[in-house]
Amino acid sequence: MKDRAPAARNLVLLGFMGTGKTSLARTLAGLYGLPWVDTDRLVEAAAGLSPAELIRSRGEGEFRRLEGEAVRRAAALEGHVIATGGGVPLREENLRTLARTGVLILLTASPRTLAQRLAGGDDRPLLAGTDAASLAAKLEERRAAYQAIPLALATDGRDLEDLAREAWQLFLRNRGREARDGS
Ligand code: S3P
Repeated sequence: MKDRAPAARNLVLLGFMGTGKTSLARTLAGLYGLPWVDTDRLVEAAAGLSPAELIRSRGEGEFRRLEGEAVRRAAALEGHVIATGGGVPLREENLRTLARTGVLILLTASPRTLAQRLAGGDDRPLLAGTDAASLAAKLEERRAAYQAIPLALATDGRDLEDLAREAWQLFLRNRGREARDGS
């Protein structure tokens, strides 16, 4: 096939909290020997506060601003797996920036699966509750933003390594096409 993109593009994982972006990024990195980053950790390194602490002390707006900067820094990398915070797709500009240098893959999960994964877990101040009904409402609020990402993988009941292999195939099949489209 002609006009293949250079192999240095990024594989970018997006999706709601609890869809497993960070776990999948770590698994992909291990399986294929790639470096990986997580935009939440880039924000944390820049601010000296975790995303949750930042949202509580300085508000969501300031967190989103720093997240946008983290997205730009991540998109400037080459050949990385990039895990993103769940709110990254809420800003169209973030998606445009990441799509310039990477293949975007949305991870999905049902509200029931998310409720199981998020119960009693990490500190997530933007969630009113981690029951399936609260999560379904929040997912609905964000539906349009997530739907803007054309490639998606459902994670319910999936083995992490299987999922990583599937994500990798999706990446290989799409990295050339996206580069040619100039997106
Ligand atoms: C957020 C998701 C979190 C973190 C912050 C806001 C969101 O990341 O960025 O708490 O708005 O969905 P995870 O998706 O890694 O939990």
